[in-house]
Amino acid sequence: MKYLVTYWSQTGNTKKVAEAIFDVLPGEKLLKPFDEVDRLDGFDLIFIGFPIMQFGPPPAAKKFLSTQTKGKNIALFVTHAMLSQSDDPRQQAILHKELDKCCEICAGSSMIGTFHCQGELSEKIADELMASNITMLMEFAAMRPLTIGHPNESELAHAQKFARAVIA
Ligand SMILES: Cc1cc2nc3c(=O)[nH]c(=O)nc-3n(C[C@H](O)[C@H](O)[C@H](O)COP(=O)(O)O)c2cc1C
Repeated sequence: MKYLVTYWSQTGNTKKVAEAIFDVLPGEKLLKPFDEVDRLDGFDLIFIGFPIMQFGPPPAAKKFLSTQTKGKNIALFVTHAMLSQSDDPRQQAILHKELDKCCEICAGSSMIGTFHCQGELSEKIADELMASNITMLMEFAAMRPLTIGHPNESELAHAQKFARAVIA
C-alpha cells in the first residue's frame, strides 16, 4: 500500500495532525502540503487535511478537493476552533454543517473516513476578528481561550487511532 498525507495549514494545527497521522502509517508513504502535490495518481489512500475557515473549507482546500479527488480513496482530517463536543445545540449544528460542506466537495471520491478536532485560534486572528466590530466575528474571537493548546496530545492520539482504523 502506498499512502499520501497532504494538508493545508495556515497556523500549524492541521500540520501537527498530518504529522501524527503520517507517523503511524506503515510502508511506502509521503507527507506533503497541497501546493507541493501535482497528482494523486499512484496512491492507494490519501489523507487530506485542512482547517475550517469562514464556516467551510478554505479556498485552497475547495480547489484541491474539487479538482483532484475524483475516483480516489480518501480520508479527511479537519481542524476547527469550535468545540468538538458542546452542550450548545447551535454550536453543534454549525460544526456539523461545516463538516458536511467539506465532505460534499469530495462527492466523486471514495471517502473511507473523516476525523476532526479542535485547533487553536491564533492570537493574531482573534485580535483581527475582535477589531472587525462585526458581532458574529467578535463572538467567534471570544472563543479563543477555549481553543488554546489544541490539538492536544489526546487529540493527536485520536488522529492516530483514526488513521490505523482507516488503513485496517
Ligand atoms: C480566517 C479564519 C477563519 C476561521 N473560521 C473558522 C470557522 O468558521 N469555524 C471554525 O470552527 N474555526 C474557524 N477558524 C479556526 C481554524 O479553523 C482553526 O484555528 C484551525 O485549527 C486552524 O488550522 P491551521 O493552524 O492548520 O491553519 C478560522 C480561522 C481563521 C484564521
